[in-house]
Amino acid sequence: MDFKGKVCVVTGGANGIGRCISLTFAKAGAHVAIIDLDKDQGEKVLVDITAQGVKGIFFCGDIAKKETLDKFAEEVIRTYGNIDYLINNACLSRSGILSGCDYEDFNDVLNVGITAPYMLSKLFLHAFAAGGAIVNISSTRSTMSQADTESYTAAKGGISALTHALAISLAGKVRVNSVSPGWIDVADNNVSHTQPDKSQHPVKRIGKASDIARAVMFLCDAQNDFITGENITVDGGMTKQMTYSGENGWVYEGK
Ligand SMILES: NC(=O)c1ccc[n+]([C@@H]2O[C@H](COP(=O)([O-])OP(=O)(O)OC[C@H]3O[C@@H](n4cnc5c(N)ncnc54)[C@H](O)[C@@H]3O)[C@@H](O)[C@H]2O)c1
Repeated sequence: MDFKGKVCVVTGGANGIGRCISLTFAKAGAHVAIIDLDKDQGEKVLVDITAQGVKGIFFCGDIAKKETLDKFAEEVIRTYGNIDYLINNACLSRSGILSGCDYEDFNDVLNVGITAPYMLSKLFLHAFAAGGAIVNISSTRSTMSQADTESYTAAKGGISALTHALAISLAGKVRVNSVSPGWIDVADNNVSHTQPDKSQHPVKRIGKASDIARAVMFLCDAQNDFITGENITVDGGMTKQMTYSGENGWVYEGK
């Protein structure tokens, strides 16, 4: 994988998975522009990006707002000219129907989780260099649910569908894929997880942000340019394990 001199744009780059993706690209020699609401953390990540000897941007703003997206894209294009990769990573949850998630909160999550990725794809469309790639961060929750998660789950279903739609619309210009993380511990502080937490994953551990960053880089890598419209699930096998009552240490206790 050769990312030297490439330009990578990451939403939600100040914390968690987005921070890890941003720093991994910077360490690989790519220039990295991040946008995030979190000013303090964003400024820290910018220092870490530029410490790698690459050019960085931290734009502080809310990607739910159209004018923020316009200004961010303008600054990125003015600074770098072209971009190579857009990583639509930022998302949030405002719970669901059981806790009364209302019109504004529901739409806020959709704006961050679906509309912003669409608008950024549109704003950068003419700025993508040859071999450009978009990677959308979805979730295993795009296809399965816990109760009271409608805002987040709808956003993740939406970004998964947006991925294959864009892959077809942008065919021959930009490849578009997604990564669906399972349970990722973004704390990066060696918290010890319980044995049941680990054991419910077929690989016997909880995910790390770096597991996601590597999958994103794989999808951006020009050598993998036969892949578009695809999703990679990175969940330690959790969504592949079928469990009946009495198996795998689990007994159904409902009626
Ligand atoms: N951590 C997990 O277990 C997990 C699992 C599945 C999917 N994901 C997905 O991975 C992505 C990153 O998750 P994370 O766990 O690192 O989250 P996080 O909350 O640690 O980080 C998200 C970042 O996005 C930023 N952000 C949120 N709303 C924003 C807005 N309106 N404008 C600008 N920035 C905004 C936050 O400030 C934060 O820096 C998300 O799309 C999330 O849904 C995470």
